[in-house]
Amino acid sequence: MPVTICMINQKGGVGKSSSVYHLAGGMVEAGKRVLLMDLDPQGSLSQGFFGSVVVENIEAKDTVARLFTESAFFATLEQLAVPTRFDHISIVLANQHLAKFNTPEPESTGMLQYSVREFLREAVEFDIVLIDCPPNLYRCSWTALVAADYVLIPVPPEDFGTQGLRAVHQTIEQARKLNPNLRRLGHVISRSDKRLLIHRAYEQRVREIYQGNVLDTVVPEASAFKVSLAARSPVEFDMPRSQAAKLTRQLTREILDRINDKTPSLKVA
Ligand SMILES: Nc1ncnc2c1ncn2[C@@H]1O[C@H](COP(=O)(O)OP(=O)(O)OP(=O)(O)O)[C@@H](O)[C@H]1O
Ligand SMILES: [Mg+2]
Repeated sequence: MPVTICMINQKGGVGKSSSVYHLAGGMVEAGKRVLLMDLDPQGSLSQGFFGSVVVENIEAKDTVARLFTESAFFATLEQLAVPTRFDHISIVLANQHLAKFNTPEPESTGMLQYSVREFLREAVEFDIVLIDCPPNLYRCSWTALVAADYVLIPVPPEDFGTQGLRAVHQTIEQARKLNPNLRRLGHVISRSDKRLLIHRAYEQRVREIYQGNVLDTVVPEASAFKVSLAARSPVEFDMPRSQAAKLTRQLTREILDRINDKTPSLKVA
């Protein structure tokens, strides 16, 4: 069975999709076969590989939206996972058709809460599944948490009060009632500009609050991430010698080490 990691934060623009996109390249470089799942109706991750015109024209039944309908448990990996132009990266696409399913009370959807989890049982040809979630804690994020082994929380070094981290941790705790194996892989400081005193101060603060539950590697704000995304390529393949690619490899190694270590995550209130 692959290891499934979902990227959650209810605040927008913190680097969830960007992290999943570039980590996919890092994971392939580390010898992993990667399945990406776009669980965000915005479809940013999908568009990163195929562009907005192609993605917006895909029928609902060929996207992850299928896993939110009554025929969810009949959907196969073969039907939904499409290869990208990169070896060992496939993706289950999302677009606007997912929006109507992203409702605020996921617990009321019965067995469908398990649809992504069941779907991934078939994903034996992959080593790692990375799930991108929307900037809220509704049904899409919930379904990802019910399916995942680990959760990663990207946190820019800015006002944590506005990021709703408490709500994120509460939702993780609730999801553990359905998925007791769900563990916090940790917080990743993202979009950091070390030249800014305020960013350095917030990074220190987040490390004080969450301690071992913060990864050592910091994802900087770097144009290479944007430039390679515009070229529709994870930075590892587009600009392998950039600092951004180097740090992505470092982050990948740290994530894989944490998974292999099975380091017990700190319980965060
Ligand atoms: N480390 C980074 N360096 C430079 N640009 C970045 C970085 N991370 C993200 N970005 C850019 O910032 C924008 C928002 O990032 P991204 O889409 O990954 O955030 P998100 O958390 O997925 O947002 P949403 O909540 O809307 O899904 C994108 O244009 C992305 O390319
Ligand atoms: Mg996103």
